[in-house]
Amino acid sequence: MNKKSRSILVISLTSVVSLALGVFGYIYFSFLHHYKGKTVVCEWNETDTFDINSLPTVEVKKGQDFKILNFADIQLSDTENMFNMNRIHKEMSYLVKQTKPDLITLTGDQTWFNENRTSLLSVINWLDSFKIPYAPIFGNHDFGNPGHTAVATPNYCCEKYEDGKYSLFRRGPTNIDSLGNYVVRVVKDNRTFSLLYMVDSGVNDRINDKQISYFNWIAQGVKEHDGDFPKKSYAFMHKPLPEYIDAYKAHEKGYPYTETRGEMYNYYYLGGSEQNGFFSFAKSIGISDIVAGHQHGNCFSIRYQNVWLTSALKTGEFGGFIDKDGVYLNGASLFTYNGFESSLKNIFVTKGKF
Ligand SMILES: [Fe+2]
Repeated sequence: MNKKSRSILVISLTSVVSLALGVFGYIYFSFLHHYKGKTVVCEWNETDTFDINSLPTVEVKKGQDFKILNFADIQLSDTENMFNMNRIHKEMSYLVKQTKPDLITLTGDQTWFNENRTSLLSVINWLDSFKIPYAPIFGNHDFGNPGHTAVATPNYCCEKYEDGKYSLFRRGPTNIDSLGNYVVRVVKDNRTFSLLYMVDSGVNDRINDKQISYFNWIAQGVKEHDGDFPKKSYAFMHKPLPEYIDAYKAHEKGYPYTETRGEMYNYYYLGGSEQNGFFSFAKSIGISDIVAGHQHGNCFSIRYQNVWLTSALKTGEFGGFIDKDGVYLNGASLFTYNGFESSLKNIFVTKGKF
């Protein structure tokens, strides 16, 4: 074979291989690289009969306070964190070992961007490895960025969180224009010790009226069963309520009724979700602690109208880590409830520790 023929052969082979790769890539990314999950229809109606035993539960250990460790905005991406994902696993393991919680909550944006499947499965595996019940909700990035554009669809994400061995996650009703709304019942001596309202405020810009009706239906059902609301209930959500703005401004002005606890950092804008009446509703059903993520640059807790509004500490340095004025906003928030009061302790992780 002469030099010219060899060149023609090489060019032809290269063209065939390139074409094959192109066709494979087109088929893979257009049809195969999508993880749809099962479509589940779970219609809820206000006239449905409430069964307290349908709520996922977690027990308070005898003679001990109840401890919740919250991870906020881990924001893993399959592509961006392909080679460093384990750092967040080590950090989460460290935070769990330091605090030994009874429950782990995750206030959304566990993953972000469109390549989210490996990240999602990794987070679930790590959580299961801790052998502690966990309760996640969704943020505005869990299904992609922007909107529902990720390879792992909302149905797939719900299915995987529901399948987690230690997961308390429920996708909730599928006819309230929102996914992942549920309530965890904390039980002590066979009685309701606390209710944890897991509220989706991530996907839409506001908590909608149907969500509020659904949570009210559960709250009234528990009240009917127990004779009253529990002394203390929490709401966990992704985007902070507009009342966070009022609370922080009142705190800045030094109003006497705005007590604070823990660190007070405000590097981002305040608030996040639109006005929806949730705050008034929350007070009416005995919610006394609201915990939100989303604002990576904020970490504070203010008692406002007798409700603790907490902007939780962001977990991990991926996706909007704040490193400013010598402050590294990275770690997790620990809430302890002793039956009378709840306290907050932020556990900070120094930059470069993992
Ligand atoms: Fe967010």
